[in-house]
Amino acid sequence: MQDQPKAKPFRSSSFFKDGLSSRAPVEGTAANTQTGPAASTPVTNASASQVAAAYPDDVDKFPFPITQEILDRGQQRFEIFCSVCHGLTGNADGMIVRRGFRKPPSYHEQRLREAPVGHFFDVVTNGWGAMPSYASQVPVQDRWAIIAYIRALQLSQAGAQQATESIGDRK
Ligand code: HEC
Repeated sequence: MQDQPKAKPFRSSSFFKDGLSSRAPVEGTAANTQTGPAASTPVTNASASQVAAAYPDDVDKFPFPITQEILDRGQQRFEIFCSVCHGLTGNADGMIVRRGFRKPPSYHEQRLREAPVGHFFDVVTNGWGAMPSYASQVPVQDRWAIIAYIRALQLSQAGAQQATESIGDRK
């Protein structure tokens, strides 16, 4: 364990012919802090802080109409990025939590059912307590799509029938 054959940053190595311990990134590699291609939406072309300023945490409207397509995208992104902790239904019973990570609040708590969408945007963009920021992994439009899907989950758990129709104009 003490003497593992591992590469340390900037240390040379005999493993590769050129003496470097790591390979140069392939051409066109994008830093994960760079804004992704999906950022060409009405609310992007701006830095994370500009976006956050444009959408303060008390904003109660989505910046674009919520369609079935957006909800489907939101569901897919939610299941990839959020469900591991928040659970598939938002009950905070994701696998990482079952394995010991701090348990988040359920999305079905009264406080979060009443929280404006901008609060969710703020949490995903800037992180919240033990939860890290997802700004570098989830582009702005996808963040809103995820939030729309969380609203759908909240409505589904609240027993609403017409979830899809009422999400766009919900607070
Ligand atoms: C690694 C686990 C993890 C992942 C993945 C994760 N969260 Fe969280 N989340 C947490 C924890 C833990 C908290 C509670 C943090 C605290 O209160 O310190 C939290 C809190 C929250 C809250 C509640 C904030 C409040 O007002 O109490 C929201 C909303 C939220 N997360 C949304 C998301 C969304 C959306 C995603 C996916 C983009 C996501 N989270 C991914 C762990 C996670």
